[in-house]
Amino acid sequence: SEEMYLHYHGLIVPKETHSYESLEFAQGFKFEDDDVLAVTYPKSGTIWMQEILPLVLNGGDLTPIHTIPNWERVPWLEEKQLARVVDKLASPRALVSHFPYNLMPPSFCTSKAKVIYVMRNPKDIMVSSYYFHQMAGFLEDPGTFDEFMDKFLEGKGQRSHMHKRRHARKSIFASSITIVVGSVTGQPMSASFAVMFGKWTDHMKSWRNSELGDRIMYITYEEMAQDLPAALRRISDFLGCNLTEEVIQKVAEHCSFKSMQNNNMSNFSLIPKVYMDHDKSPFLRKGNAGDWKNHFSSEQLTRFTSVISKELEGESFSLPWSL
Ligand code: PPS
Repeated sequence: SEEMYLHYHGLIVPKETHSYESLEFAQGFKFEDDDVLAVTYPKSGTIWMQEILPLVLNGGDLTPIHTIPNWERVPWLEEKQLARVVDKLASPRALVSHFPYNLMPPSFCTSKAKVIYVMRNPKDIMVSSYYFHQMAGFLEDPGTFDEFMDKFLEGKGQRSHMHKRRHARKSIFASSITIVVGSVTGQPMSASFAVMFGKWTDHMKSWRNSELGDRIMYITYEEMAQDLPAALRRISDFLGCNLTEEVIQKVAEHCSFKSMQNNNMSNFSLIPKVYMDHDKSPFLRKGNAGDWKNHFSSEQLTRFTSVISKELEGESFSLPWSL
């Protein structure tokens, strides 16, 4: 797994999509005041926002979502694609990012660019991520659901303390199987576990405490899943887009799970199978709130809830859902 990830300010990111150059490019990126950034912890609704933002910003014009793949249409701030497409982005530009607040480039902080922070119930994030690790050839095999839960809760790029473990991991790049033996002595293990972008709780804390005032809007995946037109009205108001009810309904229709599944520019079907194997698990997998109920045992629920609530103890914000 060392070959699969880059270490960056205590985080790990996949090498397939990120490089030190792309991360530096992000740091030097010049935000404009009319830029719009959607920030998510991975698996919280990123590609949903890549569909929504161009439609909302362009009065419901379908051309971008039907002609430009999502990763070029609303590129990730930190990924390799941005440098390639940045000059082609129409204004107002829309971007997405998985960065925690502390990694935002200086120009973001001095600009007036608006940001939409999309939150999702971490139990559903974990389930979604578990399947994503199975289908994405550039990510480490997640192991069992129970093992993956440990990794998710630990949230580190590198473990400093290991339980006795032995994993066989699939790798599409190097040898087909990599055997990683965990240290039993508590020494740092050289192979890293695959939790991209750190702990969910750290990500939440960084953005919930960012004090960006009226530059930031918080929204949940659950709110979008429950009533998309209402969520779109809120987004449109925040961005000052004044969409008519007719356009809101049209945008909602094109951003439904079904429409996105059928949109080749959004469902990652253009990506070769070695990188994303939709037969193992489609990227647009279920699109539901509460799928964790089909995966968590009661012991796992207790463990998960206690770790997360402990880490959020004393925070001034409260979670938009009960854990
Ligand atoms: S990533 O890899 O971080 O960019 O993934 P991300 O896009 O943040 O999250 C993927 C999950 O979002 C679901 N999704 C949707 N749900 C409902 N409606 C729409 N339109 C929609 N678009 C994406 C996607 O199915 C993944 O969740 P799961 O639970 O795995 O289905």
